[in-house]
Amino acid sequence: MSLASPVLQTRLADRAPDRRGKVRDIFEFGDRLLIVASDRISAFDYVLGSGIPDKGKVLTQISAFWFERTRSIVGNHLLSTDPSQFPEEARAAADLLRGRSMLVTRTEPLPIECVARGYLSGSGWKDYRATGEICGIRLPPALHESDRLPRPIFTPATKAQSGHDINITEREAADIIGSELLERVRDLTLRLYAEGSAHAESRGIIVADTKFEFGRLPDGEILLIDEVLTPDSSRFWPIDGYAPGGPQPSFDKQFVRDYLESIRWNKQPPVPSLPSDVVARTREKYVEAFRRLTERDLDSPEPLQGAEPPSNRARGGAPARKENSPEPLRGAEPPSNRAGGGAPARKENR
Ligand SMILES: Nc1ncnc2c1ncn2[C@@H]1O[C@H](COP(=O)(O)OP(=O)(O)O)[C@@H](O)[C@H]1O
Ligand SMILES: [Mg+2]
Repeated sequence: MSLASPVLQTRLADRAPDRRGKVRDIFEFGDRLLIVASDRISAFDYVLGSGIPDKGKVLTQISAFWFERTRSIVGNHLLSTDPSQFPEEARAAADLLRGRSMLVTRTEPLPIECVARGYLSGSGWKDYRATGEICGIRLPPALHESDRLPRPIFTPATKAQSGHDINITEREAADIIGSELLERVRDLTLRLYAEGSAHAESRGIIVADTKFEFGRLPDGEILLIDEVLTPDSSRFWPIDGYAPGGPQPSFDKQFVRDYLESIRWNKQPPVPSLPSDVVARTREKYVEAFRRLTERDLDSPEPLQGAEPPSNRARGGAPARKENSPEPLRGAEPPSNRAGGGAPARKENR
């Protein structure tokens, strides 16, 4: 099977992104942001030399699904995923942007990461093993790695500019954002996790843990921002074969991790590229996660709409874009231009 080229870098006609994350590129438009998810993939804290075609679409469309589904819990930043509603400068790049980008309300992000954990893994497992606690929360003794916790817990972390985020106690988090606001985001985090993990489990995916971000509007309103319950912001495990007592395979990245272990990469630059079968199989897993969670096909007909007025929403019988035919990914870079040349990417340390 031959795959479309991955989108490794994005640009609009006259501009490069104002900011590049490991995976997402951000363009600023005054009080709005255009967040574009590339097909870059990271592992062991590095962006790899190969991308995964359509991964950015999967991430964007999974987030859009959750933004819609959780709006009754908390308002969010999504304005539109439909390029025809983007600022003019971006509309010209509609073919590149469609399906992988979101126009959002710009907020002032709260300076903590709001993590919910339902299972014992990653830095949570490490901390528990050392202290019997995570973020100051004492847990029952004798839990095993990957065990389900008696109940989901809120485990805030700092947002490190470089290096790993650091888990902090609720008390420390309250010192940073104030105790009233902390109460609020703690409650929201646990409700969002409860909603998301229950749905995912009913579709065969365990959400072991996940990270939310919240932002503040000038009038003080708190919005859910960034990405939501995606494979990049969460630890997804297949329910089939779940076996606590050790690490679980990753739903999405396991072929990549297995490959990197097989070549005994020392996890230092230069970063490896992936063989085409690892790319293809990994792409399948991302698309499968999308299908399972949303019960839709990637790029399904209706443009997903965020907080648009209903009149704008149903564009009564608008002709469906050709579905399931992966559109040509314009803006894809030739392999020789691949991104990732060893730039250390931060975190992956939940
Ligand atoms: N609505 C928003 N307003 C302001 N900042 C936002 C909003 N949504 C997301 N962000 C910020 O965008 C950034 C995304 O960058 P980053 O996490 O480095 O990208 P990636 O996840 O692709 O590696 C985060 O710092 C996040 O706080
Ligand atoms: Mg991020």
